Formats: sequence, C-alpha cells, structure tokens
Amino acid sequence: MDLTTTYMGLELHNPLIASASPLSQTVDGVRRLADAGVGAVVLYSLFEEQLQREAAENARLADAGTESFAESLSYFPEVAEEEPGPRRYLSLLERSAAAVAVPVIGSLNGITPGGWTDYARAMQDAGAAAVELNISYLPGSPSISGRDVEQRHVDVLARVQDAVTVPVAVKLSPHLSSTGEMARRLDEAGADALVLFNRFLQPDIDEETLAVVPAFGLSSPAEARLPRTWIALLHGRVRASLAATTGVEGGGDVAKYLLAGADVVMTASALLRHGPEHARVLLDGLSDWMRQKGFASLDELRGMLSVAPDGDETAHERAGYVSALREANAGAYGPW
Ligand SMILES: Cc1cc2nc3c(=O)[nH]c(=O)nc-3n(C[C@H](O)[C@H](O)[C@H](O)COP(=O)(O)O)c2cc1C
Repeated sequence: MDLTTTYMGLELHNPLIASASPLSQTVDGVRRLADAGVGAVVLYSLFEEQLQREAAENARLADAGTESFAESLSYFPEVAEEEPGPRRYLSLLERSAAAVAVPVIGSLNGITPGGWTDYARAMQDAGAAAVELNISYLPGSPSISGRDVEQRHVDVLARVQDAVTVPVAVKLSPHLSSTGEMARRLDEAGADALVLFNRFLQPDIDEETLAVVPAFGLSSPAEARLPRTWIALLHGRVRASLAATTGVEGGGDVAKYLLAGADVVMTASALLRHGPEHARVLLDGLSDWMRQKGFASLDELRGMLSVAPDGDETAHERAGYVSALREANAGAYGPW
C-alpha cells in the first residue's frame, strides 16, 4: 500500500508521526518509534523557561570574569545523560537524527517573542528536519485581550522563522475564539504546518488533601472530534500542511483524520498506553481499511469528507449541532 506523504515539504514514508511525548526522551526511545514504522518523530518540548534560565546562567558566568561568552561556555561541566536542560536536548537531537532514517523534529514551547527563539537555530544545526513551535498560552489574566493572544502567536512564529531555514510548524491551542482566522493569519505569516490541537494540563483539586494536584490523563478517541472538525474546515483553505493530534487509538482514527483532510496524523497517548510498537498496529489498520474500501493511495481519500472551500462553514457546524440535538431530544440517550 502506498502511504507516502509530504508534510511541510518533508517526504515521509507514511503519514503517522510520533508526537512530542516522554517516549522521545532517549535515543533508544526515538529508535523504537522509528523501528515501529512511524513516518517522523517529534521530540518532547524544550521550554522557554529552561532556555531563559540557561541564558541567565551564561550571563552570570560571563559577568564573573570570563573574557567572552564563548569562553564562558567552557565552564560548564560535561552534559550528563540525565540532565534535562537545553544542552542535553541538542545532544539527544543530534544523536537521534543520526540514528534513524526518518525526520526528527525539534519542539520548542514558549509564549513570548524573546531571545530564546534563537534556540531554534541550534536545533536546526543539531539536525532537526523541522521545528515545531508549541504555543501553550492560557491567558490567566482577565486583562489580556484575544487580539493580544493572537498577535503573540504571529510574533513568536516570526522570531523562530528568522532563526531557521528548516520548516516551522505551529501547534495550536483549541482555546482560541476564532481558530479559523488564527490559522489563516499564521498561514499568511508563513507557517509551514499547523498542528491541531495541543492538550492542556488542567490541574485538579483533591478535596481530601485540600490541595491542587497535577492532572494529565491520556486521551480517548472522542476527543478527536474537535480537532477533526477544524481539520475538515481548514482543508483546502490554508497553504500550510495540517497535522492532526489527539485521540488516535486505532487505525480507524487515523483514517478519519485523513478523510477530514489531515496531511499527517500524530499520536502520543496510544503509544504511551500500548508501547511504541503500537505504531505498527495503527499503520496496518490504516492499510487494511484502505484495501477494504478500495483506496490505492492517500491522495484518493485525503479530505474526502472535508468542508468544501466554497461551502458554508457555519451551516456545516450548525447542521451537526442541530442534528445532534434532534437525536438527543428524540430520546437517543434515554429513557432516563
Ligand atoms: C505525557 C505527555 C507528555 C507530552 N509532552 C508534550 C511536549 O513536551 N510537547 C508537546 O508539544 N506536546 C506534548 N504532549 C502532547 C502530545 O504531543 C499530543 O499532542 C497530545 O497528547 C494529543 O495527542 P494524543 O491524544 O495522541 O495523546 C504530551 C502528551 C503526553 C500525554
């Protein structure tokens, strides 16, 4: 079965990508993912805060009497394998890119258009085939306007683009007031891909211990409906590649995202739940489904169930909403 795919200019042997997760924290982890058959691997994210801390430390050492910034770097001890910071990340990236035949994508998580964005260049130099920019910004302050949040995305993208020549993807939050317009603005600003959507860490409250506790469960296929709806709406309307992320558990979930119009489909939870080798199950499931349906290549099916660019997007959404309500009112979930 021909599963070859182009994703933001990268030639992939199939459209399944291992998205950022702890599975890519070691070279062995990346190798396992590649051996299981994924078309590309996105490394876990390096955070703006980590980069700022390292920059502050470099500046402190430079102030403490070294003659040049470059010299000050030599004051750092050798990087230990378990050291979680930026240097270890670059080393991991370099060794992973050398170890596997599929593209390895670096991931940066940040929200301000600051100097840390230059780090994208270091990722490129270490062998990243592309950079994924993970903008996880939840505006906690009620004084921040939606326009400011959106502008931040465009500004951070511009800074990262200035730093690299490899393609840049933007991983978006589902919590934007007009996802379509944001996607269009990022597309016009030159984003090579849009990754829909990030999943957020939403702390819980433990009523017994009276404490706020971290909560980050793995996803379920029902959560794929929101990103799938947006992929269907954006397919054919933006030049950027579209990557789907969230809720892929079986080959059928990969197929549904492709039918909606995704160029590639990412997975993290299922690989964490079942092990990296589950990638093979997803790919075999996709191929079997294509054979059953009589598709010989992805081009024949990609976007088949997207919203036509000249279609009425609001009517499409309303139709789904209204028919779902009608079903509910007709007793689909009852009797209570
Ligand atoms: C344990 C865990 C760690 C993750 N770490 C990152 C990360 O470092 N950077 C990132 O962009 N996304 C990260 N993600 C999000 C995933 O890449 C993915 O977008 C999200 O989980 C939705 O896909 P899924 O339903 O296949 O898990 C993480 C997800 C999980 C479950």
